[in-house]
Amino acid sequence: MSAGLARVSATRYITPLREGGSLPGLMEADDLGTYVVKFQGAGQGRKVLVAEVVCAGLARALDLPVPRLVTVELDVELAATEPDPEVQDLLRASAGTNLGVDFLPGSLDFDPGAFALDPALAGRVLWFDALTGNVDRSWRNPNLLYWHGEPYLIDHGATLTFHHNWSGAEAADTRAYDASEHVLLGFRPEVAAADAELAPRVTEDVLRDAVAAVPDAWLDGEEGFDTPDRLREAYVTRLAGRLAARGEWLPGVLAAVEQAPPRPEVRAPASRRPAWLIAHGRRAAR
Ligand SMILES: Nc1ncnc2c1ncn2[C@@H]1O[C@H](COP(=O)(O)OP(=O)(O)OP(=O)(O)O)[C@@H](O)[C@H]1O
Ligand SMILES: [Mg+2]
Repeated sequence: MSAGLARVSATRYITPLREGGSLPGLMEADDLGTYVVKFQGAGQGRKVLVAEVVCAGLARALDLPVPRLVTVELDVELAATEPDPEVQDLLRASAGTNLGVDFLPGSLDFDPGAFALDPALAGRVLWFDALTGNVDRSWRNPNLLYWHGEPYLIDHGATLTFHHNWSGAEAADTRAYDASEHVLLGFRPEVAAADAELAPRVTEDVLRDAVAAVPDAWLDGEEGFDTPDRLREAYVTRLAGRLAARGEWLPGVLAAVEQAPPRPEVRAPASRRPAWLIAHGRRAAR
């Protein structure tokens, strides 16, 4: 079952995104779209893709900005014309269903020293990351893009760590969230307000819809689960458990915010392209 995600077929491999740890690639598809494709045959496996889909669905339900996701069908024939042997192997290992993230052309990686971000939004992002166990939005690797004047959340592949050990997964419900390196910690994130606003919106229906969008192909064959739907239920149970246990992990996040030194006020000039943007544009044009 794949409720919610459109399905496209890859028509051309354009280039690898070398900065991505999992060797995501830029691809064109038969809907004329361009996608950052995360491959099911990559070293990190299919769970990365499951986490991406569940978190993006949840984010969208909470009005957090995420690029559109699709599933990308990959024909093994496309590997034949690819000169790079590493990419060729990856494409071969990924025949079938992969994940496509709508490519945001001209987007910039979020620079916490150069961008302003609203404390209310910072609070909602930090709360969301604590709920989903996302330690991959640090100042070193923000996994936030800035596009058309708005931030977009990307790269949720390292979340939902409970799915790496289903027999002990319940322990993750109450696990502390280490916010000390979060990229938005210095933006005065309003986490208590975010909790009051967002927690009631994470209903079982919302969780079920987010998990329903994961293709069966990435859920099949998990040990201890007879069917993809049984495994979907387990995701819903754990996320609902994590939400219910926030009395355990939220105080730690609030304390981390309290202790964080506020970053200096930065405001990009509205009427002029700032110097760093001009520099980036030149780099990108080369
Ligand atoms: N939808 C997108 N539009 C434009 N650029 C993107 C998009 N998705 C990712 N990128 C760029 O590619 C980089 C790698 O993507 P992403 O972080 O999703 O991959 P990853 O393999 O999980 O990376 P890592 O493990 O290094 O964080 C991002 O930091 C960003 O610069
Ligand atoms: Mg990343």
